[in-house]
Amino acid sequence: MVFAEDQYLVLKDICIARKSIRAFSPKAVTDDLVKKILDIAYTSPYVSGRKNWGIHVVKDQGVISHMADAVKRQVARLSHAVRKDFQKAFLSYSRNFIAFESAPVVLIPNYRISPHLTALIATPDSSIERLELENFIKSISAVSTLILLAATSLGLGSCYMTGPLIAENELATLLNLKKDRRIGALIPIGYEANDTKRGVSSRDKRKERVVQS
Ligand SMILES: Cc1cc2nc3c(=O)[nH]c(=O)nc-3n(C[C@H](O)[C@H](O)[C@H](O)COP(=O)(O)O)c2cc1C
Repeated sequence: MVFAEDQYLVLKDICIARKSIRAFSPKAVTDDLVKKILDIAYTSPYVSGRKNWGIHVVKDQGVISHMADAVKRQVARLSHAVRKDFQKAFLSYSRNFIAFESAPVVLIPNYRISPHLTALIATPDSSIERLELENFIKSISAVSTLILLAATSLGLGSCYMTGPLIAENELATLLNLKKDRRIGALIPIGYEANDTKRGVSSRDKRKERVVQS
């Protein structure tokens, strides 16, 4: 592959254009576009080069509604445990847990925890187990990031969502995921409901994050 300055600039534009979209138009996303996103996501780095992960594609509006209902039930259940003085803040925050509700497609990167390092060690070691679990979570996050960038490059809105995972078990059951599968995130994909372009200034703040050493 020939690397050119142009490619860097295109990628930079895509990164700058990406933003979290939480309200979608009902306009359908074609299977071709979904496939294009998956083709990019499957190039992701993944711990030990393992292939024990996948991306579940949900297009059935009934299933998406049931998923949102499952999350709402967990939010309601959890709200009883929230301190009285934080109830309002919690309810406002948790509204973002169902931001996938209006999307025509929800992509669900999921992974299997398959002990590799842990299995090589004679005496159970919790720090190795944690390292291994974190590696799967980090890996599926890399997959998720590529989904976001691929969607943006195709003019589609998306949002990285882990809030809905308060109902992970219910979601896994609804999706018929295999018992040993964990959900990495829910990523709604679609056309933005009100396509308001964000000002450049808030994007520019990201430059401040780079620390050189
Ligand atoms: C790990 C992770 C989990 C997130 N979970 C949610 C979520 O459940 N609901 C939501 O609306 N946004 C969620 N977000 C999106 C962030 O709120 C968003 O990225 C952040 O506010 C910055 O805005 P931007 O994505 O438009 O740059 C999540 C982001 C990350 C990285």
